[in-house]
Amino acid sequence: MKILAIESSCDETAVAVLEGSGDKLKVISNVVASQIAIHKKYGGVVPEVAAREHVLNIIPVVNEALLKAGLNAKTAPKKISAIAVTAGPGLITSLIVGVESAKALAYAWKLPLVAVNHIAGHIYANFISSPISKSQFPISKKIPNTKSQNNQIKFPAIILTVSGGHNLLVLMTGHLKYKIIGDTRDDAAGEAFDKAAKLLGLGYPGGPAVALAASRVRGQAVEAAKVSSSKFQVSSDGVASRRIILPRPMINSKDLDFSFSGLKTALFYQLQKDKHWSKNRSSYAHEFQQAVVDTLVAKTIKAGKKYHAPTIILAGGVSANLVLRQSLKEAIKNQLPHAKFYLPELVYTTDNAAMIGAAGYFKFRAGRTITPAKLKVDPNWDLK
Ligand code: KG4
Ligand code: ZN
Repeated sequence: MKILAIESSCDETAVAVLEGSGDKLKVISNVVASQIAIHKKYGGVVPEVAAREHVLNIIPVVNEALLKAGLNAKTAPKKISAIAVTAGPGLITSLIVGVESAKALAYAWKLPLVAVNHIAGHIYANFISSPISKSQFPISKKIPNTKSQNNQIKFPAIILTVSGGHNLLVLMTGHLKYKIIGDTRDDAAGEAFDKAAKLLGLGYPGGPAVALAASRVRGQAVEAAKVSSSKFQVSSDGVASRRIILPRPMINSKDLDFSFSGLKTALFYQLQKDKHWSKNRSSYAHEFQQAVVDTLVAKTIKAGKKYHAPTIILAGGVSANLVLRQSLKEAIKNQLPHAKFYLPELVYTTDNAAMIGAAGYFKFRAGRTITPAKLKVDPNWDLK
């Protein structure tokens, strides 16, 4: 069965078509119109600008996703079984564009409608078993992991899902059954990355910018540690500098909660004290990233040990971070050897509609559809 999915909760207008059969889910088309270039000059997402862009983009993006799936407005009503749409959490005016478009299509094509929670979407990015058909990569032919076995995920699963808007540890006892076991007390890790990038003058979006700056230090820091005392490391410009140390907030707390706003403040004060900080930008980025990763990994391992879950899953925009991906993988291998680790394909880490289609497919199969007239956006929709 085919699902058409729409996502517009923040600054990406995204539409995808998926084919589902049993527990297997294949992405047939996945189109994302990013607004990064537009919001870059403001240093962050401007909600009203985002909503206007969604209005301009939504119909062309729907058409492109249909076309790439070998469909059009005439064939779609017969070939598609349901429409899934993100109804929250997110920016209210952005969500409205996707939800009203999905409602209009459901009316016009007489198709059932499924409301999807954005965070559930991030989690379900891990349930996509075959990322995308080869026809969509005609030039590079570089297709990531087309043979993953994600349809065999065993419950209960511990999910670390981290993005700009949320930072959760979730215990999933079955499909669509979520229990929040850890949350952030203030900022989400993605938000912290974005704020750190601003402090470091690294631009927007912050996560990838901090990761890139940090990567300039990695190899060199190892060399530096060999030749100098551990109090020193080498920055991107080859300058040996005092080793920068930032806190790992709440890393040893008994609960499974997080706090990242103090980490950003600690960075702020260290930069204020260091006249030459801009020479050591990469070292600051490196330590900031490491502090976030160490904390996320420690709490996920703690949750894995507490619940003896056979499965650990990473999700959300921050799951694009390569150091987090690698560190969590190694920590699970060493400390939770019986658990199986899943993480989304890079293309499904940041906002996209394929993940919404994946969650929508399982919700549709469970019979959880909604009458279009009853569907309203919920900008603060908690994962339940
Ligand atoms: O899921 P997403 O696209 O949007 C929200 O639901 O918030 O996640 C975006 C967040 C941003 O805060 C961005 O800085 C962060 O994910 N992010 C990263 C990386 N790529 C995106 N953070 C760290 N490292 C990355 N490579
Ligand atoms: Zn997201």
